[in-house]
Amino acid sequence: MAASSRKPLPVDRLAAALKANTLVRILEDFEQRFPDAHLKDLVVDDVRGEREILVAGRWVTNFGSDSFLGLDRDPRVLAAIRSGVSRWGSHNGTSRAFSSVQSNAIAEDRLAAWLGVESTLIYPSVTLTNHGAIPGLVGRKDVVVMDELAHNSMQEGAKLAQAAGARLATFPHNSPEGLEDALRKLRPYRLALICVDGVYSMGGDLARLAELRQVGAARDGVLYVDDAHGTGVIGSHGRGTVLDALGDYDNTLIVGSLSKAFSCAGGFIGCSATLKKLLKIRSNTYIFGGPVVPAYLDAICEVVSILESTEYDRLRGRLTAHIERLTRELEALDLVVSGGAAPIVSVLIGDEADTLRAGRFLFDRGYYVQSVLFPAVPYHGGVLRIQCNANHSEDAIDGLASAFRALCSSKIQIPRRSDRRGWGAAALEKVAAYCAEKLVG
Ligand SMILES: Cc1ncc(COP(=O)(O)O)c(C=O)c1O
Repeated sequence: MAASSRKPLPVDRLAAALKANTLVRILEDFEQRFPDAHLKDLVVDDVRGEREILVAGRWVTNFGSDSFLGLDRDPRVLAAIRSGVSRWGSHNGTSRAFSSVQSNAIAEDRLAAWLGVESTLIYPSVTLTNHGAIPGLVGRKDVVVMDELAHNSMQEGAKLAQAAGARLATFPHNSPEGLEDALRKLRPYRLALICVDGVYSMGGDLARLAELRQVGAARDGVLYVDDAHGTGVIGSHGRGTVLDALGDYDNTLIVGSLSKAFSCAGGFIGCSATLKKLLKIRSNTYIFGGPVVPAYLDAICEVVSILESTEYDRLRGRLTAHIERLTRELEALDLVVSGGAAPIVSVLIGDEADTLRAGRFLFDRGYYVQSVLFPAVPYHGGVLRIQCNANHSEDAIDGLASAFRALCSSKIQIPRRSDRRGWGAAALEKVAAYCAEKLVG
């Protein structure tokens, strides 16, 4: 029977139902209205040199990589992966609940020594760290309290904890007073797990860790910091935001990424040896899923050696110089630029269509940056997100700045810092109301 004449199967109805979902409709609408400018779901056909990628027949400089220190092209990291594959084969083939390769134990010890924590436990990604550790740490008598802008992977981890009986609440972004208020309303509870990002990747702002920890400690709260964007690029020797802000890890659990600045694969939690043992028993993503491929664990050790050496300051210095050079140029164009500690510079465009067109404009001039739209940012709060890497050339930074100069003279509407029309409190309120309505739908 022809597919069109048969009765729809439940699986067809499933797809139809999903297409009616608000978020799907919004994203499909963007895709249909701006097929040329969309630049999502890209296929990279080749890479060359340090940071060039081939997309749709065009070589462009990639300003969309989290490989902040450029270690994805480092010969020592690549050699460690090759020798790891020769030694261990292509994968481990079992959950770590049964066995781990020796490199896993070594990598965890090396990470702990570099950070200055007692122990670390590696998971296959930061997402799976948060999905395993958050529900693993709390029980029915506990609460999870989350910054309202905390990364999606923590929010999803918290929902798993909620399904197992923990209560869940949010507090206003980066507000110690808001946290205090939320904790007061949640009483009584046994313990509160306070989940925040170390660096907020869309705005580039840092969590107010010292004040948040103080509020938590006075109210039976433990601070849980997802420092994915800080790992390897913030703080002395790239140890992240926590040690610099707090001076120690007391009453604080730190989660880090092994795939962004580390350019390897995986995520980890830094904690006491006791908690590590307990998390091995209580984290479902550790027990029921496979581990990081062994060769990458050898590469992680190689990256730790680089971070511990004096080379780190050289790499970070180069990255800082790039960020400062680019930010100076963009601010001189009167653009609305955000970012700071993290190697991510965001330029506000606002309107969705303009954000996509602006991304395409830069792409056509040889530079790929990410056009970030709702729901990753508020509706009508579209940004061009630029990720600087230490192995970008100065020419690439200057070239991107001059492409932005051309963009400012184009027909695309680009908001300027000195012209806040449309970006007053009323507009922001409208955005918040829209998000509240659409995200519920
Ligand atoms: C704060 C934060 N947590 C978690 C993740 C997800 O990391 P992974 O790709 O290792 O799952 C990201 C990715 O951007 C992130 O920014």
